[in-house]
Amino acid sequence: MADSKKIVTLITGAERGMGFVEAKTLAQHGQFVFIGAYDMELGQKAVKELQDQGLDVALLHCDITDQQNIDDAIKTVNDKFGYLNILINNAGIPGPQDALPTKSTVEELRKTFDTNFFGTYAMTRAAVPLLKKASYGKIITITSDMGSLGLATDPKSMFSHIISFPYQASKTALNAMTVAFSKEFRDAKLNVTANSVNPGMTATDLVDKELFEKNGAKPVESGAHRAIVLALDPKNDANGTFTEDAGIVPW
Ligand SMILES: NC(=O)c1ccc[n+]([C@@H]2O[C@H](COP(=O)([O-])OP(=O)(O)OC[C@H]3O[C@@H](n4cnc5c(N)ncnc54)[C@H](OP(=O)(O)O)[C@@H]3O)[C@@H](O)[C@H]2O)c1
Repeated sequence: MADSKKIVTLITGAERGMGFVEAKTLAQHGQFVFIGAYDMELGQKAVKELQDQGLDVALLHCDITDQQNIDDAIKTVNDKFGYLNILINNAGIPGPQDALPTKSTVEELRKTFDTNFFGTYAMTRAAVPLLKKASYGKIITITSDMGSLGLATDPKSMFSHIISFPYQASKTALNAMTVAFSKEFRDAKLNVTANSVNPGMTATDLVDKELFEKNGAKPVESGAHRAIVLALDPKNDANGTFTEDAGIVPW
C-alpha cells in the first residue's frame, strides 16, 4: 500500500475544462490525483501531459451514469491507496439551454438528472467508505449559481430572468445533496465534509464559449479557483456551505 500521508484526490470529468485545471493544480501541490475521465482518449492525453511534468496522476475511467464503472473506479483507488481524501464532483452536462418548463420534456429532465444528479450521487455514495478511511475526507461538488433558488427568486439578480429548467433543477438538487451529506457527517462526528462550489460563468467546452467570452465569462483557471482553495485547505472545517470566490452563494 502507498504512503498513507499522501493526499489522494479523485476528480470526475477531469480530462478537460475546470476539472483538468483542478487536477493539474492539486497535483502541483503534491496531491496524488486520479483523473476521472469520461472521454478516455482525452483522458490519456491529459494524464500524459501532467505525468510529463513529473506530476503524480493516474487515469481512471469514470462514467458516473454507470454503476459498474463507478464501482470499478472506487476499487482501483481502494487497491492502490485504501483511502480517498478528496472527491471533486466536477462532471456535468448543460442540458438543453433556455428551456422553459412548459417546453421541456420529462426525457430531457431525466437525461440531465441522470448525469448531474443521480450520477453524482452514485459516485459520492460509492466514495464515502474510502473518504471515511482517510485522515480527513472532503466532498466538493461543483454546482452552479444557476441552481440557486435564492438568486432565482431575487428580482435584483440576473438569475431571476434566466430559465434553463433541467440544468437549474439538477444543480438545485445537487445542493440538496450537499446539505444532506453535510448534516449526516456532522451528526456522526466524522472528519468528512460536503460543500458546494459555484465556479461562475466560465468559458469552457460545456457552454457556448464565444458567447460566454463576449458576456465576460472567466478564463478556466479562474472558474476552477474556488474548488482548488477548498481542496487545498488542510483544516477541513467548512461543512454544508455553498461558496464562490466572492463568498457565500444563497442556496
Ligand atoms: N462553465 C461554466 O460556466 C460553469 C458554471 C457553473 C458551473 N459549471 C459546472 O462546472 C463543472 C465543470 O464544467 P466545465 O465548464 O469545466 O465543462 P466541461 O469542460 O464540459 O467539463 C465537464 C466534464 O464532465 C464530463 N462528463 C460528462 N458526462 C459525464 C459522465 N456521465 N461521467 C463522467 N464525466 C462526464 C465531460 O466529458 P465530455 O466532455 O467528454 O462529455 C467533461 O469532461 C460542471 O459540473 C458544470 O455544470 C460550469
